[in-house]
This record gives sequence, C-alpha cells and structure tokens, in this order.
Amino acid sequence: QRHNEYHFVVKEANYTRLCSTKSILTVNGKFPGPIIRAHYGETVYVNVYNKGKYNITLHWHGVKQPRNPWSDGPEYITQCPIKPGGKFRQKVKFSIEEGTLWWHAHSDWSRATVHGPIYVYPRKNSSYPFPKPDAEVPIVLGEWWKSDIIDVYEGFVRSGGDPNNSDALTINGQPGDLYPCSKPETFRLNVDHGKRYLLRIVNAAMNTILFFAVSKHNLTVVGADSSYTKPLTTDYICIAPGQTVDALLHANQEPNDYYMAARVYSSSPVITVDNTTTTARIHYSGNYTPTPTPSLPRLPNINDTRAAFDYYGSVKGLPETYPYKVPTKIGTHILSTVSINSFPCSEGQICEGPNRTRFAASMNNISFQTPSIDILEAYYYHINGIYSKGFPSFPPYIFNFTGEDLPLELEIPRRGTKVRVIKFGSKVEVVFQGTNLFLGIDHPMHLHGTSFYFVGYGFGNFNKHNDSKTFNLIDPPLINTVLVPRNGWAAIRYRASNPGVWFLHCHLERHLTWGMETVFIVKNGRHRKVLPPPPDMPPC
Ligand code: C2O
Ligand code: CU
Repeated sequence: QRHNEYHFVVKEANYTRLCSTKSILTVNGKFPGPIIRAHYGETVYVNVYNKGKYNITLHWHGVKQPRNPWSDGPEYITQCPIKPGGKFRQKVKFSIEEGTLWWHAHSDWSRATVHGPIYVYPRKNSSYPFPKPDAEVPIVLGEWWKSDIIDVYEGFVRSGGDPNNSDALTINGQPGDLYPCSKPETFRLNVDHGKRYLLRIVNAAMNTILFFAVSKHNLTVVGADSSYTKPLTTDYICIAPGQTVDALLHANQEPNDYYMAARVYSSSPVITVDNTTTTARIHYSGNYTPTPTPSLPRLPNINDTRAAFDYYGSVKGLPETYPYKVPTKIGTHILSTVSINSFPCSEGQICEGPNRTRFAASMNNISFQTPSIDILEAYYYHINGIYSKGFPSFPPYIFNFTGEDLPLELEIPRRGTKVRVIKFGSKVEVVFQGTNLFLGIDHPMHLHGTSFYFVGYGFGNFNKHNDSKTFNLIDPPLINTVLVPRNGWAAIRYRASNPGVWFLHCHLERHLTWGMETVFIVKNGRHRKVLPPPPDMPPC
C-alpha cells in the first residue's frame, strides 16, 4: 500500500456505551474513524467500499478539491450515493489547507458515527508558525444515542417535530466519567510536565454547538478550520459542528489529574438540549498520587451568547499566511436569511412541530428540496429540470428579520432546488441574516470548495451602510464554517476561483434535514475548468 492510498471499508461494528451495546456504522470498524495524514500540497486517494446496508457518501470537510467537485461527496449534490456493495475511489487533494480538518459521511444521518480527523502538516522541510509541539492529540467531540441513529433520523423525519436529543456528548467516542458505565474507558491523555501538546479539536457532533475547556490550563488557539491564527490564549473555546480548532496545551501545572470537558452552547431558550457534560482526563506522569476526583473546568453557561461571540470575535487570522488578500471591491453581493420555518399539516401526516405543523428551515425563504440526480451531473451534462437558478430570489426577501411577533404567514417557506451561479474569479460577499421566525437560533453555515474570510458579525438586522464599516479587512480568520448569531448576522468574503458545484448548508444536522441549504455553482474560468469525472463515479 502506497502511503497516500487509503482503504475505507464502511461496515457495521458493535460498540458499547452507557451500559448498552448496539451496532453502528464505522469505517474499518473504528469509532471515531481513522486519521488521514498528509502534507500541504499532497494528494491522497481514498478507496471507499460500502459494506453496509444503506447508501453512503463520504466528504472531506474543508478540503478545497480544486476543480474536482466529483470527489467532494455530498449526496445528490456532487454524486449519487455509493450503494451497498459498491466502491468509489475518491481523490483528496490538499492545496492551501494546513492544520486540522475532518472527514464524514454526507448522506442522511450516518455521519453520527462515520467520521474522523484529517491532519495536514506543513509542506516537507517547513514548520509550524509556532513552537513545535512535543506531541499531537486528536480531540473529536461528538454525540451518542442509545438508539440506532437510523431510527432516530427516521422517527424525526416522520414526526415533523424536533429530533430526540443525544444521550451523551463524547470526547474521542467516550462519554467520560460523569456518565454511567463509562469511567473505565474515559479518554486519557498522559502528559509530561513542561511539554506542549497540540490538540486537534473537531466538533463532529450532529446538533450541538459546544464550549470546551481544560481545568487549570489555558489553551492557546493557533489554527481554525485548517488556517493559522494569531496565537490566542483563552480559558475556553466555542466550537460549532463542522468547525476545527488547533490549540496548544502547555502541561505546566502541578502533576495531577485534570479534566477537559465539553458542554452545549445553545442560545435558544425554547429548545431542549442534551445538557450533560463530557469529560476526558489529563494525567501527568510521575511518582505521586493524583486526587481521586479531578476538578472540572469552568465552562460558560449553556445560553451564554456573549461568551460564544467574545471568543469568535477574538480569533484573528495570520495575514502572512493568507493565500490571497481579503477582497475589498466586491463583485457579487449576496444577502440571505437563514430561518426556521414550518409547513402546515396535511392529511395523514404526523405534525409534531409548532402548533401542529411540521418544522422546516430555509435560506432566503426557500426550503431546499434534494434532487434525484446530483446537481453536479445535471450541470456538467446539461440535464434540464433538476435545479433552477437565481438564488436568492428577486425581489429580495425583506422583512424586519429579527422583529418580535413576526406575522405567521412569513413562517411558511417555498420549496425549491434553487442554486446560485457565480462568475469565475468573482469577489463574493455573503451576509447570512438570522431571523426570529419561529425561534431565533445560531446557525453554523458551511460552504464547500473554499474557505472564506469571516469579516464581521452583529446582532439585530444587518445594516449595509453602517455594518460594512465595522468589517475586519485586516486580519479576519480564514475558515469554512461560520457561526451566525441568534437574531443576528455574519458576513464572509472570498474569491470564487474554484470552478464546480459547491454545497452551502447549516451544519446542524436537523436544520440541514429541514432544508437550510443551497448550492453555489462557480463557472469555469478560461484556463481553469472543472476536471472530467473519474470513471468509477457511482451511477444514479
Ligand atoms: Cu462537514 Cu457539507 O459538510
Ligand atoms: Cu441551522
């Protein structure tokens, strides 16, 4: 096996958590899944074999895949699923990424257990822009359900209401000491006093934004979403599903045992959450007796929006590592609402949403309908009738987005498969505007095929004239998933120089299922065109 050739066998395996055993979908029997390691600029190939019972696709979250959307992975967006018994060799090309990313299933809710980290090291013979860590440690944050995830998903879709909360949050697949039957297996990080550890933190949870901290230790954030940041020393981080953080942990405390812990951040007073705390242990080496009950770190309160956005606001990019300058003259302005909506109940449906309706979600009031053939094929082979253009719609969908008591009829979105076509090379600004329809809540919006500069955010309605003046065009972080605050907005900028079909969606799985997504198609440039499809594309 060449070192850049991976074999990912998707198959079931039995795992026991919280005193009960169930069969879960895994890659190579591992949960969390195997780590992919590469250097800046390298290409790896992943041979994906579907030995499970259901359709599957795999996605390399945050990997740009220059000119090659064919290997990107979102089901019915860039490919049809790999059927049971099928195989697909995916090319994963690292171009500008450096740091931590992750891979995950991108069909239905299978990503709950089908995910793993990606480490992208600096190019060979070059080094990190921070002191070399003594060791590197994956910290994969997740959620665990006692029931089969397919049942959770199907029950959720059938009911039209909220999904069941997870039964535990996890660190590296383990709930931790505070949950029943978990203690012997709690993830343990052995450290030597004085050494520095690079934590490669991934939020792989389905529906929960998390606060994470380490008792008695600071974290120094040095990267986010596989771009370097100015070192930021902090006592906690906030991390939304899809996001990754590289943070240094300096083992400089009294030898003892300490907890690291994660717990939900949720701004909505209305929805219920899994409000348990997951822990892992840090154990200092040496000849001493550690305290039997280590102290827990102080985490911000569950609804502490201030703490969440103080953190996001203090993460700054490292301009000397930018691939290109932060765009100033914008060619494509996009303003899109991100909303929770509801559909009226029709005959024979179960309607456990608000006031006996069914939940929906939308961007610019359009609840995305997943097509039956992938959009990339429809685009590449000029197949009509699969999607329509012109996202967002005209005239723009404008109302007092964050007002109280918005009229009920605003809650009902339209259905459609609307995409946005963007000129190659265009400098794009997207403002995501949260709304107070049904309930205001934060949304981690993720765009495939590029990273973007996170130039600003605020609360209330976006005001182009005033708010644009507050944008950080000097040292914004370059990320791929941005948290849009509850009843607020977030602005991003990037250059659309990667031709292809790129999914844009909320990374909270329940909102994605409800329709909070669209697609950006970046047209070919004169000398940069979408590559031809590989011969083994899974057939539709
Ligand atoms: Cu983490 Cu569309 O993906
Ligand atoms: Cu959302």
